[in-house]
Amino acid sequence: MDIKDKSLLRSEAYINGEWIKKETTFSVYNPYNHVKIAEVSNCIQVDTESAITAADHAFQIWSNYTANKRSRILRNWYELIIENVTDLAHILTIEQGKPLQEAIGEIKYGASYIEWFAEEAKRVYGDVIPGQSRKNRITVIKQPVGIIGAITPWNFPSAMITRKVGPALAAGCTVIVKPSEYTPLSALALAELSDRAGFPKGVINIVTTKDAAAIGESLTSNSKVKKISFTGSTPVGKIVLKQSADQIKKVTLELGGNAPFIVFADADIDAAVSGCYDSKFRNGGQTCVCTNRIFLHESIHNEFIEKFANKVKSIKTGYGLDKGVEIGPMINENAVIKDINLIKDATNKGAKVIAGGMRKKGLFIEPTILCNIDSNMDIFSSEIFGPIAAIYKFKSESEVIEIANNTKYGLASYFYGRDYKLIWRVAEALEFGMVGINTGLMSTVAAPFGGIKESGFGREGSKYGIDEYLNIKYMCWGDVE
Ligand code: SIN
Repeated sequence: MDIKDKSLLRSEAYINGEWIKKETTFSVYNPYNHVKIAEVSNCIQVDTESAITAADHAFQIWSNYTANKRSRILRNWYELIIENVTDLAHILTIEQGKPLQEAIGEIKYGASYIEWFAEEAKRVYGDVIPGQSRKNRITVIKQPVGIIGAITPWNFPSAMITRKVGPALAAGCTVIVKPSEYTPLSALALAELSDRAGFPKGVINIVTTKDAAAIGESLTSNSKVKKISFTGSTPVGKIVLKQSADQIKKVTLELGGNAPFIVFADADIDAAVSGCYDSKFRNGGQTCVCTNRIFLHESIHNEFIEKFANKVKSIKTGYGLDKGVEIGPMINENAVIKDINLIKDATNKGAKVIAGGMRKKGLFIEPTILCNIDSNMDIFSSEIFGPIAAIYKFKSESEVIEIANNTKYGLASYFYGRDYKLIWRVAEALEFGMVGINTGLMSTVAAPFGGIKESGFGREGSKYGIDEYLNIKYMCWGDVE
């Protein structure tokens, strides 16, 4: 692999500050050409237990560091990530497929969570509350939750780790990360840099495995692990939640979405086309906040489609390391088959193909636009997670709000319009955790990322993100006067 610092390319698990080479390994492939890029240690239950013991021991040390000291080490890590951005992005592109420029964007986005929470570490404030009688005083302090199990996905192999680990470490917790088996190398490269940043051993542990279910189970069933933070699909999130219920473990779930993208009659159409493109095709459509259902007012329907199709037909797909490529391969064969079936089901039921529609060699589907979509088609209720834009036509505001909310998911939503009264009405009526108004991109460390309904609960990033890793303790003082 063409990277400057070859020591970033690790294939062992990282437990208690040691690189653990296992006899049994699993292969990691480049999704563009199916060339094997690494054989990675395949951890089993006993390794998770070692990681939990290490994290438990490290918690006694790390949680007793001053906030300033934790902040400085987090800041070191942030700076090392930024210094190595090109190598990290290269590793990410090779194992995940997204174009290099987008991978660079992800590394910077991911690093921003470490930078942000290095600062927030120093702002974990308590409260003093007037007592209920003259004799009493009430104080509130916040304490780290303990050991965190972080289970992260393949679509953002770097940023979804830092978004969990940054606030957890800032709060004084220690972590065990279980990265996706498709993209463990980005996680291990982050671990290598954390090692150089000066974290005590055992504060960060990376358990690589092909057997996600077994490791997930050993994290959820161990009473020393106090919280699970999971990003992934809704069905797997439900399993994590059920397994965590036994011990009433704290849980944060960032699950699937079915984002509506609504364009009202008075919208700036060029801006809406560009926002829709960004939101639909980011990471080749493999993002849980990607637009999933596009609703166009009948008065602008044809104009929007014409302009959108011009843009989509010119998208360059290919190898993420090649210049000018905008969309890389999908992650695996199952993802391709699922999306091809969605196209077939929609067209069999009357959808019209405006662009693309076909599978290409390898793990590629042509960037596709389908119109005449209706709610009887599978694509209406499925999370597409691929480069397919599904377009619906609507007549009235009330009709579109009802249909946009007609989903079990509640993560992201978007709309374009100009009338400020309509903007407030629609933003308040949409049953989603996040609303993009006249923008197709809203992910930033400064904002609380998260969903409602079956898209999960808990928030990541922003001033709220650290609360997920803190317990509130109330102290009642008696006999003060
Ligand atoms: C995700 O797809 O899970 C996260 C995307 C983002 O942070 O914007």
